[in-house]
Amino acid sequence: MAARKRASATDTAKPEQEKPKSETHQTESPIRPAKYPTIIKFFLIFSVPYFFLIFSYYRIEYELKKSILINLLVSFIGFLVTVSMIPVASKYVLRRNLFGYDINKKGTPDGSIKVPESLGIVVGIVFLVVTILFQYFNFTADSNWLVEYNAALASICFMILLGFVDDVLDVPWRVKLVLPSIAALPLLMAYAGHTTIIIPKPLVPYVGLEILDLGWIYKLYMGLLAVFCTNSINIHAGLNGLEVGQTVVIASAILIHNVMQIGASTDPEYKQAHAFSIYLIQPLLATSLALLSYNWYPSSVFVGDTYTYFAGMTMAVAGILGHFSETLLIFFAPQVLNFLLSLPQLAGIVPCPRHRLPRFDPQSGLLTGTNDGTLVNFFLRQFGRKTEKRLCISLLVFQALCCGFCFLLRWLLTGWYK
Ligand code: UD1
Ligand code: MG
Repeated sequence: MAARKRASATDTAKPEQEKPKSETHQTESPIRPAKYPTIIKFFLIFSVPYFFLIFSYYRIEYELKKSILINLLVSFIGFLVTVSMIPVASKYVLRRNLFGYDINKKGTPDGSIKVPESLGIVVGIVFLVVTILFQYFNFTADSNWLVEYNAALASICFMILLGFVDDVLDVPWRVKLVLPSIAALPLLMAYAGHTTIIIPKPLVPYVGLEILDLGWIYKLYMGLLAVFCTNSINIHAGLNGLEVGQTVVIASAILIHNVMQIGASTDPEYKQAHAFSIYLIQPLLATSLALLSYNWYPSSVFVGDTYTYFAGMTMAVAGILGHFSETLLIFFAPQVLNFLLSLPQLAGIVPCPRHRLPRFDPQSGLLTGTNDGTLVNFFLRQFGRKTEKRLCISLLVFQALCCGFCFLLRWLLTGWYK
């Protein structure tokens, strides 16, 4: 890790009173308070259409609505717990020398502050507690769902563990890529749902089938989706608020998509699949908003690979078990683009430095795009130099536009495609 310093055996053994005064001060100084106005704006943009669809536009049956609302309530409690735990956990990770330097502020006073790293661990733990407790209020009758729900939680939990291991041990790139496929195993092994896909109507005459059973290939596809979602969030990163911001935008789009599908369908199993996704994504969104309140520009904490892997895995699991992985991939369009731009460096054809971030000019406070193949650099090269905050907002607006485009595409193709 270029900018991160790890505790050596002697460092950790050093008693607190022997540490230099400046280091003790840095370790104990509180982080900046949560930026509530920013997350209220994020919340309002998403919640207005979401609540309108649930409460006014669609007639959703009482039982399902009740479960969604209970989940929303426990998610909100999760939000409050996360907001209050992050400052506490920040002190602990700093004490263990788990911090990073803000590369896009190098050369300014902010660039030499030790920013607590891996705060995704708080989000992950609160998320798991919320989703585990939620089972008490739902799934009482349907044990099949209970099996898949718990397998999904096991995969997410495994991913949090491996993400944290990566943050602490800083494993090499090639190993990083396979970690999500290991974490996806509990879900892949327990998955007993269908392994069929519906052939798009225009292709039926060519394939000769309306439904195709993929068997084990479907499970392979599920594993690859988990690998893609986790890594693609992790490499579309490096700007304050970008890792969590993209998750918040995609999670909001997933929730709106789920409600639209529940509202428009009469098939109880189909509705249940989308409700399942809501029960995972509402807690993800609530706890992510709490993290964003500290990670938004200027970041008081970094999220770590613990968070990027956790968020990617949760959305992949929701997409797999909610059976909307194609839609999910269109929500991930900026990540797909970033992945394609990254391919030459990831494949080793072009040299890949440890950090592929823009160049920061401390005089003007502006970022300039480098030749590294990332969407961040591509945006800077196309649209000119920007401040870090402006660039992050532009990328999040682009993410939201891609989600909007996906809804438009689905609407245009309804009845013709499937
Ligand atoms: C991935 C990217 C790398 C990018 C990094 C940024 C690839 C192949 N890898 O690596 O190019 O530089 O994410 O997260 O594309 N940081 C900031 N500002 C932020 C967030 C992070 O300066 O807003 C820096 C901090 O020094 C932090 C470090 O990035 O400690 C975290 O990097 P890490 O998540 O370990 O990098 P990777 O995921 O390995
Ligand atoms: Mg990372």
